[in-house]
Amino acid sequence: MSLIVWAILGTAVLWAKSPPVSFSHDVAPLLDRHCAGCHHAGAVAPFPLLTYADAAKRAQLIATVTGARYMPPWLPDTPHLLNDRRLTAAEIAIFRQWAEAGAPEGNPAELPPEPHFSQGWTLGSPNLEAAMPEPFHVPADGPDLYRCFAIPLPSHAQHYIRAIEIRPGNPHVVHHALLFEDTTGTARKRDTGEGYECFGTPGFLPAHGLGGWTPGSQAITMLPGMAETLYAPANLVIQVHYHPTGKPETDRTSVALYFTDERPSRHLEDIGLTSNRIDIPPGQSDYKVTDHFTIPVDVDLLGIIPHAHYICRDMLGYAILPNGKRRTLIHIPDWNFNWQEQYRYPVPIRLPADTRVEMEFTYDNSEANPRNPNHPPKRVLYGPSSTDEMAGLHLQVVPVRESDLEELNQALWGKMMRLLGGGIYRPPQQ
Ligand code: HEC
Repeated sequence: MSLIVWAILGTAVLWAKSPPVSFSHDVAPLLDRHCAGCHHAGAVAPFPLLTYADAAKRAQLIATVTGARYMPPWLPDTPHLLNDRRLTAAEIAIFRQWAEAGAPEGNPAELPPEPHFSQGWTLGSPNLEAAMPEPFHVPADGPDLYRCFAIPLPSHAQHYIRAIEIRPGNPHVVHHALLFEDTTGTARKRDTGEGYECFGTPGFLPAHGLGGWTPGSQAITMLPGMAETLYAPANLVIQVHYHPTGKPETDRTSVALYFTDERPSRHLEDIGLTSNRIDIPPGQSDYKVTDHFTIPVDVDLLGIIPHAHYICRDMLGYAILPNGKRRTLIHIPDWNFNWQEQYRYPVPIRLPADTRVEMEFTYDNSEANPRNPNHPPKRVLYGPSSTDEMAGLHLQVVPVRESDLEELNQALWGKMMRLLGGGIYRPPQQ
């Protein structure tokens, strides 16, 4: 008999035999793997999705939000990013079939073991634990708050950091948090005890960014030989985005740092593709902001961090390799300010010398953009506050040869000077 006939027969037998989709056998493992990290008591999502009772009463809603790829939240449509949360078509079909079948429970004996959520630090006991000096009170309602908190570092000794974990004190109200190190003393001066307002940037030029936390994110571990230097004396600065929940909340976010004695032998550099030439007329739906940079030395690209505010829609980052080939580094077709993440590649991407990297962001300042905060739309200019816009695509690269670091730094310095030399863009008077 031909292979095809065998295949058809086989499928038919499987079809006839396969039992209907049930919670215990099919749905629970998917919830545990893809949803429970955010949907358990005390975590960010508004309700748990652990038990049959949790899920059965929302079967239809679960089918809808997974079918629309609204859940799990994941913005890029580019493959090959670490911790990609997207479901496969087959997984989405299971949620749909289960809802259509009336959410059957199945045999509870088939349930997978209940997932365990660590209350402590996932990497064990840290070398340095630091928390916001005081709990911060978030009112029941009102606009989202962006606050920076300075945490003086207790020791004057310099350290090398091999891993960082950020833990929101109250995940219901913390939308995301970013960690910086400030050696200028600015944040310490501005923080009079309950943090200071800081939408967009933390208000100083950080010695470096030390990663961030978004719901469902994990501890950040540096690659071997690439520890981050923690300078001293200095302040850690946590920038927290609070989203009021409808009742008064308090939060005290904390950080765990893990040190190593190993001096870094390779250094991470930030290639910032940015522009301050932003002046978006009301109603325009396809306003483009671009920037580019030619990398003078061979580098490995480890991660990529896109940043814009509310009305950015489409974010594209790509490389033109020296052989003329184009490679997409990240594409976000429908940007959402609420889900800012720092993306990493599971395997570094080698970009040979003379690769040109490009940023192209598209802004939709029309009434049709559901995330446009202005009705009717208003003219939007470059700036750090929530009513302004920004455009930033940060490429985290490491020179393949440490001896090339200086040349890369000089080229980046030249780029920054050109940006500043152009001055802050002053739009023509209306
Ligand atoms: C990274 C964290 C995270 C993950 C992972 C996640 N969720 Fe959510 N989910 C949220 C948050 C936060 C909300 C509430 C805010 C919102 O609706 O955007 C939410 C809301 C929901 C809602 C309510 C939507 C509505 O319109 O009321 C459903 C249903 C849901 N999630 C199902 C799921 C399912 C099913 C999965 C796994 C396949 C999942 N979520 C994975 C964070 C997450």
